[in-house]
Amino acid sequence: MYKSRIAGVGHYVPDNVVTNQDLEKLMDTSNEWIIERTGIEERRFVKPGSDDTPSTMGTKAARVAMERAGVTPDEIDFIVFATLSPDYYFPGPGVLVQEQLGIKEIGALDVRNQCSGFIYALSVADQFIKTGMYKNILVIGSELHSGGLDMTTRGRNVSVIFGDGAGAVVLQATENENSGILSTHLHSEGKHAEELALIGPNTGKWVPEIIEANDAEDISYYPYMNGNFVFKHAVTRFQEVIHEALQTNNKAATDIKLLVPHQANLRISQYIQKKMALSNDQVYNNIMRYGNTTAASIPIAMSEAWEEGKIKEGDLICLAAFGSGFTWASALLYW
Ligand code: ACO
Repeated sequence: MYKSRIAGVGHYVPDNVVTNQDLEKLMDTSNEWIIERTGIEERRFVKPGSDDTPSTMGTKAARVAMERAGVTPDEIDFIVFATLSPDYYFPGPGVLVQEQLGIKEIGALDVRNQCSGFIYALSVADQFIKTGMYKNILVIGSELHSGGLDMTTRGRNVSVIFGDGAGAVVLQATENENSGILSTHLHSEGKHAEELALIGPNTGKWVPEIIEANDAEDISYYPYMNGNFVFKHAVTRFQEVIHEALQTNNKAATDIKLLVPHQANLRISQYIQKKMALSNDQVYNNIMRYGNTTAASIPIAMSEAWEEGKIKEGDLICLAAFGSGFTWASALLYW
């Protein structure tokens, strides 16, 4: 039976840097508040009018991942695209990447699992490779949050934490027993769906209805987050799902070379690091520079860690995420 390994990783972020000071001009917030509560110093926002979209950013990240994997677009068998901010309501961005890369008429699947989206997508791709159906799969996470945030004081608890960007990996079949994904673990708890959600427009309340109601109180078309509630669940679920991955594979926290957590909040990562007694070298964080890029955050972080020489062949890497749904997930793999 085949295993699947990450053969190449890449990322792309827009040039436009938006600092906390820039946000101070738009809403009642402060650099100090944002840094103290989240660790974020700046993020990237796609400039209005730019060509960057979730799919084009995903394609740029995918090209880097393919080059590093030594794989050409024609060798890709399947695309799995994770995002909560697709180019269109439908179709999903997976097919747009297939077109942008100019590749043959392969399958393209879209995953809608928010901050856990990349690990869910990786897990799906892993199953296709293990069964022998595909050899090379592009797994992409990409988000364009900035166009859909409430950039007034009303939306400040959400808007200051998100950023735009994309990351991708080429997941490849291997027969090497000492390489590749050991296990993935996926969870959900839909009773908390509305604690972190963008509710409208939806099939029960469509756009004309929202416009007609002209209700200034109705901000259902902006993301809503019960921050404290999400935070408390996040710190518990992150630890649970990392332990699940370690236990399944008979490993200890000390065996982890690098934990790449979804970049939701620096305080969440630091809390997990402390609880699991991990050293600074064992946890990778880049939320300071990019904010929370949801489905893109793990592949962007992996790509930067790889570029910095912090991920090498044979290293045991743990990925973990928690977010809207609620959904949470982990993956344990040898690079
Ligand atoms: N600037 C200044 N003040 C602010 C801001 C801001 N940007 N945002 C909120 N405040 C104020 C609030 O109004 C509140 O004021 P009050 O005490 O007068 O009412 C005070 O700061 C504290 O607000 P809290 O929401 O309690 O702040 P908290 O310490 O919880 O930090 C945060 C908020 C950063 C959002 C935090 O709750 C968090 O990170 N939550 C988890 C996020 C997460 O993990 N999300 C999952 C992934 S995202 C996804 O899946 C899409």
